[in-house]
Amino acid sequence: MVGKLMTVEGRQAEKYERLLPQIEALVATEADPMANLANTAAALRQTFGFFWIGFYRVDGDELVLGPFQGPVACTRIDKNKGVCGSAWAQNNTLIVPDVDQFPGHIACASASRSEIVVPIRDAQGEVKYVLDIDSDQLNSFDEEDKRHLERIARLLSKYA
Ligand code: SME
Repeated sequence: MVGKLMTVEGRQAEKYERLLPQIEALVATEADPMANLANTAAALRQTFGFFWIGFYRVDGDELVLGPFQGPVACTRIDKNKGVCGSAWAQNNTLIVPDVDQFPGHIACASASRSEIVVPIRDAQGEVKYVLDIDSDQLNSFDEEDKRHLERIARLLSKYA
């Protein structure tokens, strides 16, 4: 009898389960959206250590850089451009296993190999921010990440 082995997916799920109430505690007591996004980026970075984690805010017909953790990044992205602009235009989460295979990917940093972008919506369902997580490894994100990050996005839609 081999002891109960926990899969990589299981460990990730556990991290997300611990993280969600932490983020909720951080944001539910603060009314300032930028403070809440900043702490959420830090909490995600501390938990998962990805290369770049941050937010872009919808500003007219562009996205503008918001709170983030990681190297310097592009400040403005047009609607429909790159992964972030496409997730915004489609109002949908996008998982990109290999950024070199994504037409129009914006290479803010050459180390970025895969990414996930999750929209954060207002009460009317319009996108007001996107959460962008970039990894320096291929294939870093799957449907489990999408499911948990969308829960975080729903939480932030109330507090950011
Ligand atoms: N990867 C993004 C650009 C933003 S940075 O990577 C921080 C994209 O193609 O949308």
